[in-house]
Amino acid sequence: MAKEITLDLKTVKQLLDNKEFILNEFDTGDIDWHNEFTYADLVKNENIKLGLEIGSHVGQSTNDILKSFKNLTLMCVDYWDLEKQRNCHSYPVPNIKDVYNQFLSNIVHYGVANRVIPIHMSSNEASEYLDMKFDFCYIDADHTEEAVYNDLCNWYPKLNENGFMCGDDWILNIIKWPSKEWDECINTESHEYGLDQRDFENTLRKGVKRFAEENNLNIFSIQNFWWLAK
Ligand SMILES: C[S@@+](CC[C@H](N)C(=O)[O-])C[C@H]1O[C@@H](n2cnc3c(N)ncnc32)[C@H](O)[C@@H]1O
Repeated sequence: MAKEITLDLKTVKQLLDNKEFILNEFDTGDIDWHNEFTYADLVKNENIKLGLEIGSHVGQSTNDILKSFKNLTLMCVDYWDLEKQRNCHSYPVPNIKDVYNQFLSNIVHYGVANRVIPIHMSSNEASEYLDMKFDFCYIDADHTEEAVYNDLCNWYPKLNENGFMCGDDWILNIIKWPSKEWDECINTESHEYGLDQRDFENTLRKGVKRFAEENNLNIFSIQNFWWLAK
């Protein structure tokens, strides 16, 4: 029998007004993650209203995404647990004391608190409880092949017609902008542009490809950003 859980669907602004967290100073732990959403023509679609981000950490990509889509509300799923994060990622995780509180605080400092709804649970759990449809789902949580594949299986059915799944970390050989290579990259039909050997071992790519092949979907990519259309 399913667990009895009522999801608290409040924006960060409502949580702040209710004093449900303490506002910290802005802090990203000196990391600088961002996404390349803005390079894709997808952002020109003004009908994109409700999005989902899986893996928000301290809100840098959350803010990037919200800057790209002016009419967007973003639901952000993350377990916001440093120990779990260290166990499933190879990168050095900054030692932020209370990472959930820091996410909420950063969202306030970015000025997007009324457009973000945090969902403090694992991606698997959230997919059981969030009974709604999204215009897109940005995946940036556990990057193992199995986890990426599972995220796609869990969340793809929750896309609206014309919705898309997407994410970053598609290639490791990042191409500088502006440059001749960049022009070639964005004009090419192939989503394999500019890859080196490390990219063929990239577990995230393997998970995306497996899902796309099984479901007969085309993969699109620009630089480091990939997407699958419904
Ligand atoms: C690479 S970081 C996200 C970075 C963020 N998207 C950005 O670019 O600013 C990965 C995040 O995914 C979360 N995460 C990893 N596996 C998860 C899972 N199974 N469920 C929920 N969150 C998960 C981690 O807690 C971490 O915050």
